[in-house]
Amino acid sequence: MSRLSNYRESVLQTGYDFVGARVLQTAFELDLFEKVGSGSKTASALAQELNAHPESLELFLNALVSLGFLAADGHAYQNTKFGGEIFLKGEPLYVGDMVALQAKMSGAWLGLKESVLKGQPVEEPEFFKSDEASAGFARAMHNTAMGHAEYLAKKLALGSAKKLLDLGGGPGTFTIHFLKANPGLEATVFDLPATLKTTRQFVEEARLADRVRYQAGDFNVDGIEGTFDACFLSHIIHSQDAEKNKELFRQIFAHLNAGGKLVVQDFFLNADKQSPRFSALFALTMLIHTDSGRTYTFDEVEAWMRKTGFAQVKRPNLRLPRSISLVIGERG
Ligand SMILES: C[S@@+](CC[C@H](N)C(=O)[O-])C[C@H]1O[C@@H](n2cnc3c(N)ncnc32)[C@H](O)[C@@H]1O
Repeated sequence: MSRLSNYRESVLQTGYDFVGARVLQTAFELDLFEKVGSGSKTASALAQELNAHPESLELFLNALVSLGFLAADGHAYQNTKFGGEIFLKGEPLYVGDMVALQAKMSGAWLGLKESVLKGQPVEEPEFFKSDEASAGFARAMHNTAMGHAEYLAKKLALGSAKKLLDLGGGPGTFTIHFLKANPGLEATVFDLPATLKTTRQFVEEARLADRVRYQAGDFNVDGIEGTFDACFLSHIIHSQDAEKNKELFRQIFAHLNAGGKLVVQDFFLNADKQSPRFSALFALTMLIHTDSGRTYTFDEVEAWMRKTGFAQVKRPNLRLPRSISLVIGERG
């Protein structure tokens, strides 16, 4: 095939990419991976359990096999080796809460054209509108954070830091791993009251309750309480505009001790604003789901830090998933 044909085929394939996502989401909605469990089940046995149309379910199961999300042995289906570690509830690397959030977020993409024309989400953002929505969102954040929180906590030298602020810390997954990696460290998780209910559960499960405090509030309204040696600001700046972020940096700076660090983790853009791809696409996720969020370039965030007064600004070279990177500012 010519390069043009390959390019054309890849464009046509892009139009089908949502199908795989929808198949995965539906498998979770049917609780299918749990029903298959650690055993081996035929399509007809599963159809009975799910009260499903047998032939249609078989098509669905075969599609899951084609995607590598189930294995098949003759007429029986099993969870794959890796699937058993990420699709079954209670496994540390479980991804089902994030897949459920992705399903919930998928409808808003139909409004992308209108959002591009008007600069606003079509639907009212509702991630934190109820206790249930906040808990689902926090569990999804836990799923994604578990992909690299342990690695990051080991790689990121917090030095002699004794007090960490995890601002917008969500489920507290990063806090938990920072505490595990730094025995002398204590942390405060600042988040919305509804989210903190889930945070407390994760912290208690990790048996770290005696080293974690909480500040319940809105970080754009309520002042930070206390002073800290480090502040972790993870996946927060992309949800709001530059002015709010600059104000947040000023707040944080004022509550950092001398030598204290602000660690910003996000989907940073390169200077061209067109790469990495995940960051460029995530800007649109924020366009359709938030009032004023987008992704930012390294240079933008470094400039905010210098303007705030951070004496040194660094970009550690870590291998993190998707397009996640860090920018670290150190107070003189
Ligand atoms: C994308 S999540 C990031 C969670 C966590 N930092 C992580 O990286 O896994 C954003 C978090 O910010 C919290 N949040 C959003 N707006 C907030 C606000 N105005 N004040 C306090 N917390 C807020 C949410 O509850 C949520 O836990």
